[in-house]
Amino acid sequence: MDLRGKNAVISGGATGAGGAGSIAYAAAGAHVAIIDINLSAAEERVREIEAAGGRAFAVGADVSVAADVEAAAGAILDRFGGRVDTLWNHAGTVVVKDFLDTTEADWDRLMSINVKSMFLVTKAFVPAMLSAGRGTIVNTSSISAVAGTEKEVLYCTTKGACHMFTRAIAIEYRSRGLRCNAVCPGFIRTPHGLRELDALRAQGVAVSEEDIVRLQGRICEPEEIANVALFLASDASSFVNGETVFADNAMLVGT
Ligand SMILES: NC(=O)c1ccc[n+]([C@@H]2O[C@H](COP(=O)([O-])OP(=O)(O)OC[C@H]3O[C@@H](n4cnc5c(N)ncnc54)[C@H](O)[C@@H]3O)[C@@H](O)[C@H]2O)c1
Repeated sequence: MDLRGKNAVISGGATGAGGAGSIAYAAAGAHVAIIDINLSAAEERVREIEAAGGRAFAVGADVSVAADVEAAAGAILDRFGGRVDTLWNHAGTVVVKDFLDTTEADWDRLMSINVKSMFLVTKAFVPAMLSAGRGTIVNTSSISAVAGTEKEVLYCTTKGACHMFTRAIAIEYRSRGLRCNAVCPGFIRTPHGLRELDALRAQGVAVSEEDIVRLQGRICEPEEIANVALFLASDASSFVNGETVFADNAMLVGT
């Protein structure tokens, strides 16, 4: 899982599993560009990486907004001399609501943050990968792409789209040296994961600590997702393409 000499872009690389990924990618030798709406947290990650001897920089952007992505991609491509070897589309969030309370504004917002962002960010960096004749893309999907969760019709729909985006990109660009895979976590101990669990519990969904143990043995740590992304980003996964790799400690196979 070696990324020495590689230029990596991680959206949502400031906190949670993306933050762990920024650190893991840099430790594997990559020069990491973090794109995140939370610029101060992204800069904190950069300081941590530099203190450990790695290389990284942060760019603030809302990845659901085309103009933000265009500006961020321009700055990153300049800094990287036009070469991007690997992209992790990790930025995302969740809406936990009864289906009938879900508004059109909720729908448009979450589809923009979780789905349109992958379109915008991938489109911004694929030309550089095509010029080089190689590149890897990782998308963060979820068990929610295939397992329906109560109060998460909208969220599950965004992750279903992420699955198909991954497969279709993989097949469109296979012959030109690109690979695209998804990492699909169960519940992770991140700000997003803990917020989601609180919101589900508040709405009566059975995800108590005992339920998490029954479903996936224990909560997943952010580094465990970062390592899957790192594998998919690196040449160690050279013949893995178009896959949706579940990291859920057998939750899905056990249900
Ligand atoms: N935590 C879980 O239990 C879990 C499970 C499955 C999938 N996921 C997926 O992981 C991602 C959430 O990440 P996390 O769990 O590491 O939590 P997190 O909330 O710590 O990380 C998300 C990162 O994305 C950034 N971000 C959010 N919206 C953004 C935007 N519009 N533009 C730019 N950056 C933005 C945040 O600032 C943050 O740094 C989502 O894609 C989510 O669907 C999480």
